[in-house]
Amino acid sequence: AIPLKELFKDYFPIGAAITPQHADLATIHGEALVKHFNSVTAENVMKPESLQRNKGVYTWEGADRIVQFAKNNNLQVRGHTLTWHSQSPDWMFYDENGELLSREVASAQLEEHITTVMSRYKGDVYAWDVVNEAMSDWDPNGEIIYREDSPWYKIFGPSYIDSAFVFAHRADPEAKLFYNDYNSIFSWKRNKIYDLVKRLKDNNIPIDGVGLQGHWMIETSEQDIRTTLDLFRGLGVEIQITELDLPVYLSSNEEGSMVYTETFSQRQKQTYSMIFQVLLDYKDVITGVTFWGIGDDASWLDQPGRKAFPFLLDENLQPKPAYFEVQKLL
Ligand code: XIL
Repeated sequence: AIPLKELFKDYFPIGAAITPQHADLATIHGEALVKHFNSVTAENVMKPESLQRNKGVYTWEGADRIVQFAKNNNLQVRGHTLTWHSQSPDWMFYDENGELLSREVASAQLEEHITTVMSRYKGDVYAWDVVNEAMSDWDPNGEIIYREDSPWYKIFGPSYIDSAFVFAHRADPEAKLFYNDYNSIFSWKRNKIYDLVKRLKDNNIPIDGVGLQGHWMIETSEQDIRTTLDLFRGLGVEIQITELDLPVYLSSNEEGSMVYTETFSQRQKQTYSMIFQVLLDYKDVITGVTFWGIGDDASWLDQPGRKAFPFLLDENLQPKPAYFEVQKLL
């Protein structure tokens, strides 16, 4: 097999989400990372609750380890994430009585967090997911635009998004700044994201691109992906696929398996081939593709009794049939 990063070298950097334990050449993970990838993202350790669980007390160890490993081995780093309703400490939103903070206090704290984190990794982290998952998954008619149950939204309304990008640009003017979300290829959500990004651009808020998480399914529609890429291309922003994984199941009811069957292999081959053909076709706007893991040994989608097998590398981090199918495209 040709290493993934060689396959895509004329197209886009290819990345993986990793833990600090993977950032070690003495592991099969470290070995696979330097062989196949030229970009990494911290799966968890750059999230607010990891970096600043207690106010003013930063924990850099895991994130530093990933950044150092990346520097030593010529990998780019995509930062994830600065502003999110999930995996963020309560003190960012609530006072000691559990009441929502004032805008002034919450905004100052957010600015401090973004500035401290981005300053530490200036020059080492080339792009950041500045805001993650701010749009509503509900209401296809678009009446409910933002995720209103986010404490960020409750404190600020949508303006925290604008502020986060302004803080981020101030902290590191060279970094590429992304808005990142899931379900972003479905018409009802991509249109909300489009309106948001358009509003930010119209107001001269510094944003460079949109991250489509890419937690896709075997039945994912080619047309949905193409229409979404066309839409954001029309806005003149970069597009990155930030969290690609493709579980082998057709539905959430399908019986689980701990074994990768021939049926799984067949269906996954086809969809992966379709996806990468589309991504190759859009190389003018796609500036990065990151898998949300390295190989099938570990995925956030695994459940007891049911593994997701969502990647191009198998449980031993070796290329699997879907990999060779993608290789044929190049
Ligand atoms: C997931 C991690 O993979 C898990 O290990 C963690 O327990 C929860 O978060 N969208 C995102 C990612 O933006 O940060 C999430 O990562 C997956 C969904």
